[in-house]
Amino acid sequence: MSSLVIDNIGLLVTGDPVLGQGPLGLVRDAALVVEGERVASVERAGTAADERIDAAGRCVIPGFVDSHTHLVFAGDRADEFAARMAGRPYAASGIRVTTEATRAASDDELRELARARRAEAARAGTTHLEIKSGYGLEPEAERRCCAVAAELTDDVTFLGAHAVPAEYDGRADEYVELVCGEMLDACSPYARWIDVFCEQGAFDADQSRAVLEAGRDAGLGLRVHGNQLGHGPGVQLAVEMGAASVDHCTYLSDDDIEALAGSDTIATFLPATDFSTRQPYPDARRAIDAGVAVAIATNCNPGSSYTTSMAFCIALAVRDMRMTPEEALLAATRGGARALRRDDVGRLAPGARADAVILDAPSYTHLVYRPGVPLVAAMLSAGSASAP
Ligand code: NIG
Repeated sequence: MSSLVIDNIGLLVTGDPVLGQGPLGLVRDAALVVEGERVASVERAGTAADERIDAAGRCVIPGFVDSHTHLVFAGDRADEFAARMAGRPYAASGIRVTTEATRAASDDELRELARARRAEAARAGTTHLEIKSGYGLEPEAERRCCAVAAELTDDVTFLGAHAVPAEYDGRADEYVELVCGEMLDACSPYARWIDVFCEQGAFDADQSRAVLEAGRDAGLGLRVHGNQLGHGPGVQLAVEMGAASVDHCTYLSDDDIEALAGSDTIATFLPATDFSTRQPYPDARRAIDAGVAVAIATNCNPGSSYTTSMAFCIALAVRDMRMTPEEALLAATRGGARALRRDDVGRLAPGARADAVILDAPSYTHLVYRPGVPLVAAMLSAGSASAP
């Protein structure tokens, strides 16, 4: 097998404390040796290999792991965003607007739109991501969304329980039966996860539990959207059911924090959502100091967070959620991997997938210090080099 080295790395973030200094596992003047799709070793700068990429003293980080996206959709909601900036509050009922456009789109249109968004995320340094369905809300439309997502990632999440569609108005329990039956049967062959939007105005605790139990019986892992628009049962339900992640966590009570801290459920923060919906930011400091394991993700979707930029989310987490740059970078890499219960991404350690980003900067702090600036100089994705 031929080898490749990223040599002359000024600052390497391995993401593995065993390999270097601090929680980020920092190594200075390093070389990253790759064989095939995997990291082979971390060496001193000056190491030889069949092929060489010169990092020219810059910083190399693990590719971002975006553990929460809704990349498969059609339509545009820029007018809704503009109205919000003019003072109108965010309402999850906008999901129906996107559902209408998504149902009307052909497979090819959906595929092309999702691929373009995936490519945009890659240019911004995301080397692995999760993709949810959730804008079909009928068995065949949800199946089509899951099938398109499965062409782009092995972390597909079935989110039929994203909203009650218009034709089921006033019949949410019947819709839950559809989700747990025919829709789940159609989607589970493409999916690794099931998710539910457990929130006032979406699905209550009993309905959410029914969805998660059906998904678990079908062999899927569990994820929950919870505590986004107010306090609610989402976090407690996620912990009780052993979900891998509960996402949003904008409103956390002391009991929620205590439950998360004593669990294996990752609290995934989606700060670009709070930015775009003018919500308060989650109190990440309080959660981390209490021992909660956290991740950061984009929640890329047309309604509440239309960005693929993990760097933007990191900047918000540091600026507005009082996370340190180290905590935020770890949450956007290793944290995302943990939220997806994976060990092969989010770190640059021997055996891990060789997903690395060469930053056009001497340190990862520039991700926050230079917000809005495209800092991805080059990247490796499963050992293959590409320019942004
Ligand atoms: O995560 N919380 C539910 N779903 C999305 C909103 C999607 C939309 O408005 O279209 C979210 O914010």
